Amino acid sequence: MNKKILIKNGTLVTATDTFRADLLIEGEKVKAIAKEITEKTDQEIDATGCYVFPGGIDAHTHLDMPFMGTTSSDDFETGTLAALHGGTTSIIDFAFQSQGRSLKEALATWHEKARGKAVGDYGFHIVVTDFNENSCKEIKDLIQKEGITSFKTFMAYKGALMVDDKQMIGLMNECKKWGGFVTVHAENGDLADSMVQTNRAKGNLSPKFHALSRPEIVESEATGRAIDLAFSGNHPLYIVHMTCEAALNRVREATKRNQTVMVETCVQYLLLDDSLYDRPNFEGSKWVMSPPLRKKTDQEALWNGIAQNLIHTVATDHCPFCMVQKEAGINDFSKIPNGAPGIENRMELMFSEGVLKNRISLNQFVSLNCTAPAKIFGLYPEKGTLAVGGDADIVIFDPEKQHIHSKETHHMRCDYSSYEGWKVTGKVRTVLLRGTVAIDNGKAYIGKGFGKYLKRKSLSQKIEI
Ligand code: URP
Ligand code: ZN
Ligand code: ZN
Repeated sequence: MNKKILIKNGTLVTATDTFRADLLIEGEKVKAIAKEITEKTDQEIDATGCYVFPGGIDAHTHLDMPFMGTTSSDDFETGTLAALHGGTTSIIDFAFQSQGRSLKEALATWHEKARGKAVGDYGFHIVVTDFNENSCKEIKDLIQKEGITSFKTFMAYKGALMVDDKQMIGLMNECKKWGGFVTVHAENGDLADSMVQTNRAKGNLSPKFHALSRPEIVESEATGRAIDLAFSGNHPLYIVHMTCEAALNRVREATKRNQTVMVETCVQYLLLDDSLYDRPNFEGSKWVMSPPLRKKTDQEALWNGIAQNLIHTVATDHCPFCMVQKEAGINDFSKIPNGAPGIENRMELMFSEGVLKNRISLNQFVSLNCTAPAKIFGLYPEKGTLAVGGDADIVIFDPEKQHIHSKETHHMRCDYSSYEGWKVTGKVRTVLLRGTVAIDNGKAYIGKGFGKYLKRKSLSQKIEI
C-alpha cells in the first residue's frame, strides 16, 4: 500500500497561480489538489502560513568534477543533500567527454559517480569537447535511449574543452535531427587567453586579474556568435550562466529577427559584483569563476532581462573548491580553479532578494527555479510544477523566517560561503522528494542512493517559457 501524506492549509504557488489549497500525496505522486481535502491519511503536514512550491531544479551543477588539476569538492552525495536542504530536489550535472574518447564513456563515468550516491534526483547534460565522426554517431542514441537531450559546448578553455565553430555547427545539426539541442558556455577563448597572457607577463597575478582578463566583450562576442550560428540553421540554443548587459543585448537583438534564445543566469550574477575581487589576502579567489562577476549595473540589466522574459532560468553553476584548492593559484590567478559554491543558497536567495524586494513575482520565482528548467530540459510536467499525477517534489517554505547564510551552517562541502553573513528572509522548512519527507527543519530523513537518474524527454515541440 502506498503511503498517503496530506499537506494542509498551505498557499500553493505554480508558475502561473497562487492559491490556498490542500495537496494529497499517494506514493511518489501528487494525487489531488483541492480547496479542502478531508481524507484520512498516514501523515498530515500543516503548512499554515507557508508557501508550497514545486521542488527546485538546478540545471547547472558540477559535482565531483575533475577541473584545472583538482576536483570539485562536493560529490553526488554531499552536493545533492545540500541542494535538498536549500529546496532543490533535482539537478542536471555535466558529464565531460575527454578529448579523443567517446560520449558514451563520459556518460558511463558520470553514472558511476552518481549511482548509489546521489540523495536527490539527477540528470546529465553531456559536454562535447571533441565533435568528430564518431561522436556525431552517438548523438541519436544518447537522446533517444539515454535521456540526454542537451549537449554543452565550451567556446573557451582552448586545448582542454573548447570546440571551434565548425564543430559547434556540426553538433547543432546533429542534435536537431533527433530532438536535442546545444547549450553554450559563451566566452571567446582566444581573446580571454590573450588577455590572461598579457596580465601574467606584466606581473598582474592577483585574483582580480582573472576578471580583468575576461571583460564583457569576451562574453558578448561569443554570445552573439553562438546566437548567429544557431540562427543560420534555425536551431534552438540555450546559453548558460549569462552575466552581463552586453551579452543580454545580443539576445535582445536576436528577438528583432524573431529568434528565440533560451537563457540562464545564475544567482551569483544577480547578487554579487566584481568589487569582491578587491578583497585582500587572496579572498577574491573565492569568486574566481568564468565568466567572472560583473558590475552592479549588469545585475540590474539581468533583473530587467528576467522581467522582459529574455532570461528564463536561474541556476547556480555550483562548482565548489575549498580554499586549499583555490591556493593552487595563490601566485597566479590563471591557476585558481574556476567555480564557487551555491547549490544550497539559490532558492532562499531568490525569494529574499527577488520576491521580497519586488524584483520578481512569486510565480516568476517558481518559473525561474522550477518550471522553466523542467520544460526546457524535458522533465515537465513530472517535475517543475504542482500537478496531479506529477512527482510529489515539494518545498514547504516559511516566508517570514529570518536566518543567515554561512559556512558554519551550510551543508555544502566547502569551507567558505559565497554569501557569508547574508541575512535572508524566508527559509525552506520541509522538502519532499517523490513523496518522501527528505528534509524537515534542517534534519535529513533520506540519504545516499535515494536519488534517481532522470531520463529526459526531447524538445520535440515548441515550449512556452
Ligand atoms: O567557473 C566556472 N563556471 N566553473 C565551472 C565550469 C563552467 O564553466 O561552467
Ligand atoms: Zn561554463
Ligand atoms: Zn558550469
